[in-house]
Amino acid sequence: MTRQTKIVSAAALVDREGRILLAQRPPGKHLAGTWEFPGGKLEAGESPEQALIRELAEELGIETQESCLSPAAFASHSYEEFDLLLLVYACRKWRGTPEGREGQALRWARPAEMFRLDMPPADKPLIGLLDALI
Ligand code: C5P
Repeated sequence: MTRQTKIVSAAALVDREGRILLAQRPPGKHLAGTWEFPGGKLEAGESPEQALIRELAEELGIETQESCLSPAAFASHSYEEFDLLLLVYACRKWRGTPEGREGQALRWARPAEMFRLDMPPADKPLIGLLDALI
């Protein structure tokens, strides 16, 4: 059987105080309860930036522009069921106020606080890079 690789684009949305938005994965989903950089899987034919703009609109109700997304970091992680390639973009400008459109809780956190949070194993190694990005 071929092992599946999922490609996920995610955002480090940075506010004026240098905090980053995290979204809590809802009950019933893989890694429910963990705090992730918001984003989601690429659909067929989408670039990582297009996927992220769509996901941020669907999940958080905010509008972002491709020109404001800076490629920041990537991570890969082998989950039990699939391999994940996580592409993270830093973003400081968007329109609208993020809200959990799919019922997910949101929180703004500084990198130092994130070390204490339960985050997906793919996201966790990126925390140490954030201070250099924001
Ligand atoms: O959000 P979605 O379920 O489409 O994500 C696909 C997979 O990527 C999930 O298994 C999720 O746990 C993982 N993921 C992650 N870190 C993120 C976003 C998604 O590990 N920031």
